[in-house]
Amino acid sequence: MLVLGIESSCDETGVALYDTEAGLLAHQLHTQIAMHSEYGGVVPELASRDHIRRVLPLTESCLAQAGKQLADIDAIAYTAGPGLAGALLVGASVANALAFALGKPTIAVHHLEGHLLSPCLADPAPEFPFIALLVSGGHTQLMAVHGVGRYELLGETVDDAAGEAFDKSAKLIGLGYPGGPALSKLADTGDATRFTLPRPMLHTPNLDMSFSGLKTAVLNLVTQQSPLDDITRADICAAFQEAIVEVLVKKSLKALKQTGMKRLVIAGGVGANRQLRAAFDDAAKKRGFTVFYPPLELCTDNGAMIAYAGAQRLKERQVAGSFAVKPRWDLA
Ligand code: KG4
Ligand code: ZN
Repeated sequence: MLVLGIESSCDETGVALYDTEAGLLAHQLHTQIAMHSEYGGVVPELASRDHIRRVLPLTESCLAQAGKQLADIDAIAYTAGPGLAGALLVGASVANALAFALGKPTIAVHHLEGHLLSPCLADPAPEFPFIALLVSGGHTQLMAVHGVGRYELLGETVDDAAGEAFDKSAKLIGLGYPGGPALSKLADTGDATRFTLPRPMLHTPNLDMSFSGLKTAVLNLVTQQSPLDDITRADICAAFQEAIVEVLVKKSLKALKQTGMKRLVIAGGVGANRQLRAAFDDAAKKRGFTVFYPPLELCTDNGAMIAYAGAQRLKERQVAGSFAVKPRWDLA
């Protein structure tokens, strides 16, 4: 079965072709980061218009890359939510229109399910069940994943998402948008011991997390150290990254311990963070669990994870699409 996947929930247009026998055949991505950066954040109307411009050319290049025709497609998966309503509607409309013309089914995919299953596109892929740490710009959750469509929420952030904390702190430190990757790069040159930042909710017995206090602590530090020189900037980045990585690792270890599971999946944009990956690799070695990541280019938003999640739903016959999108939608 050949599944076309379309992602348009925020500022990335992603299109991919996944074959249930042959695997990922093609994936194409257009990021709007440059367009939004002059505004310091995503402008929803501009995002929708750009998705409209990109989605069909990207679909054509995917088909060309895979050597396939539109008529070869068996089903079309698209991100139905959560995300920006106008942006989601672009993917939903194109998917439904194409599917109608081809007489094929559509599959409405939850964006976070796409992230959650994205490590299954790597080799080796994790077997069920596993714990998933979802760390993106909009979400930070710990899930027990028992199978496709069988997700159990164990804990989540009570305020900002981890990626949001990265981006907001980066803005305070004077880095561009989205600042996560830039903050992380600068942190590599900094001294993490010069400043100590708080680790909110680190020792609470549950699996919930909180990152807004950390961002406020960065604001206080920036105010206190102003004007920032390059060394101070790098040292604040290093202290911030160390704090956030410690919270994410400790809470994930607690989730593994509580459930007795031995497989951990890291998914979502922040999963591209080098220090986070190093800390998880280290913990896995010491504590005897296995950690899985998506291929690096599939950590942030992309069509491949939507095509893959759609294909799994198709296998399980859990197929239902509609023109309606769900800007707010809980996975579990
Ligand atoms: O999963 P994603 O592409 O979009 C959402 O669904 O939100 O995640 C984007 C987030 C942004 O907050 C971005 O700053 C963060 O992931 N991010 C990183 C890194 N690469 C992307 N944060 C820290 N370090 C990175 N290397
Ligand atoms: Zn995402």
